[in-house]
Amino acid sequence: MNVEIHIANSSYVGYAQEICDLIYESAQARGTGIARRSAEYVAEKMNSGHAVIALDGDKLVGFSYIETFSHKRFVANSGLIVHPDYRNQGMAKKIKRKIFDLSRKLYPNAKIFSITTGLAVMKMNTELGFKPVTFSELTDDEEFWKGCQGCRNYDILQRNNYKMCLCTGLLYDPKDQPPPQASSFARKVVKPVVKVRKPKKIRKK
Ligand SMILES: CC(C)(COP(=O)(O)OP(=O)(O)OC[C@H]1O[C@@H](n2cnc3c(N)ncnc32)[C@H](O)[C@@H]1OP(=O)(O)O)[C@@H](O)C(=O)NCCC(=O)NCCS
Repeated sequence: MNVEIHIANSSYVGYAQEICDLIYESAQARGTGIARRSAEYVAEKMNSGHAVIALDGDKLVGFSYIETFSHKRFVANSGLIVHPDYRNQGMAKKIKRKIFDLSRKLYPNAKIFSITTGLAVMKMNTELGFKPVTFSELTDDEEFWKGCQGCRNYDILQRNNYKMCLCTGLLYDPKDQPPPQASSFARKVVKPVVKVRKPKKIRKK
């Protein structure tokens, strides 16, 4: 097994239909609804560099893509899928990390969010710095919530006026994150210099 994770581009669009089929079959197996995407939509994500794809040679291993909402103030990492043959080996974690890093690079000021009932996604997002939030903290972009129409719990969401449902909202807000660590140069050189500077003694008259 030699799996590589790539930022997708037009050379991977041949996998688009297989990805859609895999997402659909997995949702069927789980008995959940999904925001169904067309192969054209997935291909467009690849063409625009808004997706990552994992391949073992030329065999499809996994995928995820980026969506933007509320005029790019919110970003969602969607469509996470790992082929059943490659599950429980840390593959989703690697794909998540890659799509998260890509999202931060493309949209550094955006809040990144997801809604899920899945423990795996909760664990992975928490590790990346996501916090659980109520739906009021997420995008109010209708395009996002339309994606819930394919879910079997959609009536619950509607009944609660889109304010709560069975999913947990998870949010990464770049403003809440600690400042980046000082560089090793700053730690080794600047800090000691600063440390040895002591206030001048006050001379007694
Ligand atoms: C969910 C899915 C992406 C996980 O892929 P994976 O490669 O097996 O996941 P990983 O091996 O990277 O595991 C990541 C973490 O999730 C946990 N995990 C994985 N599958 C899990 C499951 N079914 N239930 C609970 N936890 C799970 C792992 O234990 C691991 O946690 P850890 O870091 O504490 O050990 C994969 O099962 C899948 O494609 N499922 C169908 C599609 C789907 O559910 N997508 C998510 C849509 S929101």
